[in-house]
Amino acid sequence: MKKLKELFDRGLLWAAAKFFTLGLILTRSLFKLRMSHDNGTTAIGTVKIVENPRFPAHDFLQAGRSFKCRLRHASVSYPDDAVIQVRAASLKFADSRYDSPFDLELNTGTISLFWTARNFLEFAQAKKMTQGLAFSAYYDKYPTGLEAGKEGIRKYPSSFSRLYYYSQCAQLFLGKDGVKRYVKFRMIPEDRGEESGIIPRKDLENRWSELAAPGETLSPNYLKQEFADRIGLGPVRYHLQLQLHTAEENESPEIFNCNVAWDEKSHPWMDAAQVEVNRLLSLDENNLMRFSVGLAPASLGIIPSVSIDDYNSINYLRTHAGAAKTARLFFYKIFGMPKPVTNWRDDTSSERRPARIVQK
Ligand code: HEM
Repeated sequence: MKKLKELFDRGLLWAAAKFFTLGLILTRSLFKLRMSHDNGTTAIGTVKIVENPRFPAHDFLQAGRSFKCRLRHASVSYPDDAVIQVRAASLKFADSRYDSPFDLELNTGTISLFWTARNFLEFAQAKKMTQGLAFSAYYDKYPTGLEAGKEGIRKYPSSFSRLYYYSQCAQLFLGKDGVKRYVKFRMIPEDRGEESGIIPRKDLENRWSELAAPGETLSPNYLKQEFADRIGLGPVRYHLQLQLHTAEENESPEIFNCNVAWDEKSHPWMDAAQVEVNRLLSLDENNLMRFSVGLAPASLGIIPSVSIDDYNSINYLRTHAGAAKTARLFFYKIFGMPKPVTNWRDDTSSERRPARIVQK
């Protein structure tokens, strides 16, 4: 009986992932849109693993090893850099549109708005805006999801390069010593200085609005433009850091809950690599990028999951969404590359406007 239940749980997870991906293809890819993170910009450069790692010897993250890389920054939800929302950094350990030995997808905020496939699917259905805020019904049901929202959103950040970005989900870290560990990553500014755009908690007591501020004077492209200008002046650098947790027998599943940050005292951040980007890619090249958490060596692989209530099912869904990304590129071929959208703020046809890329 137990075996049958396990089989059913796994089957349901598989079916949920396939069904969700099909939904993405029909509602997003077909319209040449990503599920999220559409409004972005990509640069190329190098990732160099630190010379003297404080973390255990690792076959992939070898001291001094260097990779070409692509770094894509994005505003997660809206085609307007001036809107309050989460920002992102996706790092590919290769100068490639897709193929890579290792990809990382990082968002601002230490914790995730959703933490199992089940509540991610609820989140995805709660897009409706109430008083200028999407996902309000989800936040009503899940106060810790609302907390994650408050933690991750940024208002008028000065630069993509002045933010802290987190992987939030744990993945495997199998060192050369054979000890099983789990790892989380983050990427921080070169000077390790204060993060820009954090909204004081007292200003978030009544939540926040994701509509463009009336009479907004900041360009909808200001963050992308600032990043382009910054790269024009010279290389932009970051530190990639990691946090480790040694696997324990009878581990509480809570260690995998991406809505809970690991304690920095017991799990200190350690430098893993220096990231340096020095040349911006075109808008078309930026659009042709696909990242995947499934692109990783076995020693940094994703943690298996067994049901839609398993914390690791978040990464399971992500790895199964590949068809939606491939379909997005297929529809570029059929319908042409996405055109820049410039009049987002004037479009009052729907309360939640379609996320498209705004570029000059
Ligand atoms: C803590 C959890 C998550 C984080 C940190 C995260 C982060 C990201 C980031 C940074 C991107 C931008 C990639 C780019 O620059 O092209 C992205 C895109 C995307 N994510 Fe997530 N994500 C999470 C959960 C999920 C889940 C549960 C799904 C479910 C399938 C998902 C599906 C996608 C898809 C389909 C895209 C668009 C990719 C494309 O079309 O190229 N993500 N995510």
